[in-house]
Amino acid sequence: MYGKCLACAEYIKKIIGDFRPETAVILGSGLGGFAESTDVKFSVDYVSLPDFPVSTVPGHSGKFIFGLCAGKPIAIAQGRVHLYEGYAADESVMPVRVLKLLGVKTLILTNAAGGINGEFCPGDIMLITDHISLFVNNPLTGKNIDEFGVRFPDMTEVYNSKLQSVALSLARKHGIAIKSGVYAQVKGPQYETPAEIRALESLGADAVGMSTAVEAIAARHCGIDVCGLSLITNMAAGKNKNTLSHSEVIEVAKGAENRLFALIGGIIKEI
Ligand code: HPA
Repeated sequence: MYGKCLACAEYIKKIIGDFRPETAVILGSGLGGFAESTDVKFSVDYVSLPDFPVSTVPGHSGKFIFGLCAGKPIAIAQGRVHLYEGYAADESVMPVRVLKLLGVKTLILTNAAGGINGEFCPGDIMLITDHISLFVNNPLTGKNIDEFGVRFPDMTEVYNSKLQSVALSLARKHGIAIKSGVYAQVKGPQYETPAEIRALESLGADAVGMSTAVEAIAARHCGIDVCGLSLITNMAAGKNKNTLSHSEVIEVAKGAENRLFALIGGIIKEI
């Protein structure tokens, strides 16, 4: 796996030359539009990279974009792969590890999520304070990749407290409503049952989705600072009378994305 990540990073370095992103953003379902607020310098399709996992989901187009945001060199992973697509957990975090090899120090993870906390509404932004990854495969399973990090990494503060403070104060300054909470990653692809949501709620989850925690684990393993932002696109199953659909998730994400993009742009500027 280390060799595969190195090969992808070397391939990308041939395209981007001495451009080195310090911050990266991974964009979730329906959130690909963030690239439009970036002065794009290079773009690399995932399919062109050797052994790189390619997304099969509508709404996840699948490329790395390199450019300037607030004058700073950033990378954007537009599209990600999910465990439900059949990828192993270590394959699903290849984007994170390739970004590490390109020099990324801070990673902003975004996703669309279902709201479990009764105070949340569709369209809310939730700052991720912690996560529950117990129900999904672990990207660190197998022989430890010592080049990335230690066998038993600490996960006391996965979501960097300084980045959380930056996000909260920026949101306050720009009048962007923001909630905070714990994100639970599940395997998907089916949405949860109401009983599963009650179970997750009793474990302390405020929102649920099918990505992000594995990426955050891989990022912390290799020493990248993480900020996580969920866009609550729907209330989770059983929280209201609605049924859930991917098209609704994409639609709500599109309607709320500008607030999220303003926040991400502000964080990049600040750090
Ligand atoms: N459950 C899981 N994943 C999701 C949801 C949800 O309700 N909404 C958006 N992604």
